[in-house]
Amino acid sequence: MTDTPVGIDAIEIHTGKLKLDLAETFAPAMGDAPEKYTKGLGLHASSFPDTYEDIVTMGANAAHRLMERKGLEPDDIGRIDVATESAFDHSKPVSTYIAGCLEQRFEGNFHHANKGERKFACVAGTQSIDDAYNWIRADRHRGRAALVVATDTALYARDDPGESTQGAGAVAMLIDEDPDLVELSTEQGYGSADETDFLKPQQQFPSVDGKRSVKVYLARMREALIDYQRVGGTIHPDDFRLGPFHTPFPGMVRKAGVLAYRHITRGTDIEDELAEEIGKQPRREAFEDEEAFMEALTEYTDALKETDHYLDWYDRTIDPTLDLAREVGNWYTGSVHVARVSGLKSLAEDGEDAVGQNLLVGSYGSGAQAEIHMETVQENWLEEIEALDIDEQLENRYDLTFEEYEDVHDAHNYDKDSSVEEFRPPEAEFVFDGWGRMGERKYRYVE
Ligand code: HMG
Repeated sequence: MTDTPVGIDAIEIHTGKLKLDLAETFAPAMGDAPEKYTKGLGLHASSFPDTYEDIVTMGANAAHRLMERKGLEPDDIGRIDVATESAFDHSKPVSTYIAGCLEQRFEGNFHHANKGERKFACVAGTQSIDDAYNWIRADRHRGRAALVVATDTALYARDDPGESTQGAGAVAMLIDEDPDLVELSTEQGYGSADETDFLKPQQQFPSVDGKRSVKVYLARMREALIDYQRVGGTIHPDDFRLGPFHTPFPGMVRKAGVLAYRHITRGTDIEDELAEEIGKQPRREAFEDEEAFMEALTEYTDALKETDHYLDWYDRTIDPTLDLAREVGNWYTGSVHVARVSGLKSLAEDGEDAVGQNLLVGSYGSGAQAEIHMETVQENWLEEIEALDIDEQLENRYDLTFEEYEDVHDAHNYDKDSSVEEFRPPEAEFVFDGWGRMGERKYRYVE
């Protein structure tokens, strides 16, 4: 077993090229106040795929840029795993399509790379990183790196309450020894239970019990945090600089943030400092019944939310991880990886030296499972973050009218025929190019 540090060497993000402005375009059409989206859910816009974009093109475009930027050839990659919950085939994995696209652009091929597809709702992206980590640690990689692609078109049925939290995009990550961006901790915590809060039983768009899904997210994250502490030791707020969490919408992370802060400040100097202002945290043993305890806990949490201690921590540790999500919506498997980039990008913009700082990463997938681990920022992180072109991509998105949004949704709906034209002409990217004789999807590169 190798004991060299293993982690994320490079990241590239590809956003769907269309934008739905939630406050300006979606809210008036739905008869809602814009603040429901901007303040309540914390979202300004969603990314959407153009007519020629899908999970393969977005993933391949992100992976292509990553390989070119890092000067990699197919022989350097021993593994390609795709995490998605938007797959269109029950047998042939999306990674084979992405490898096929990349082989159009590189001289070698990926015939000796192990390819697969990971499914567990949004947590599958992190699970694919795990698989790559274990493969390298077990020394089965022959010196090669793993390509992990988290790609989704996170669309909901029209008029579903989840419609406002849609998004589309891909995150490509290179997992390698001696990583340039972050080293992954060996320690992990899990919170996992058989839940039916969000699922897609043989259907394109999810069946969602939205309100319940929020509760399940919080319960599993709490379990994962407790489990992490069993192996990683007690966590204090000073132990990590950023807390990138799975972000279906920033308001969800706001709810998780205060519960996490309450948990990690229990029994610490911070709880003591807060005691004068809001008292000590309620302890179960001081209450006769569960109901009274829960009531006291809610009261304490509501008070905690308003304290300067908490607000300063939230602004410094959580808020920077939400900047990109506010503009792109939920990317399912890519979401927590967008949060990591968002936080690091904010530190880079502030000129902060983050080398050696820790990130407490909280991934989550409905159905349901949460995973928590720690990451340590590496020496070359700034170069990696500065190489991203996500700001330009966001700036160049086509801003849809509501009628155009309806057309685009139809264009990506398997049950609808649509003749809507592309909104942005493709340039230097992979595009969907129709169906082949066995019903396979075909792709080509547009110069
Ligand atoms: P909804 O009924 O559209 O919204 O559903 P709401 O009425 O609950 O309002 C949302 C928030 O806006 C509330 O804030 C309102 O108070 C506030 P909260 O009380 O919760 O703090 N609000 C306003 N604020 C200011 N000014 C106003 C105003 N009006 C309202 N005028 C729901 C929201 C999340 C249920 C819905 O969007 C949904 O079903 N989403 C999809 C499911 C989801 O994202 N769940 C999150 C946890 S599960 C998860 O993360 C996994 C997932 O990514 C899938 C996977 O793992 O594969 C989804």
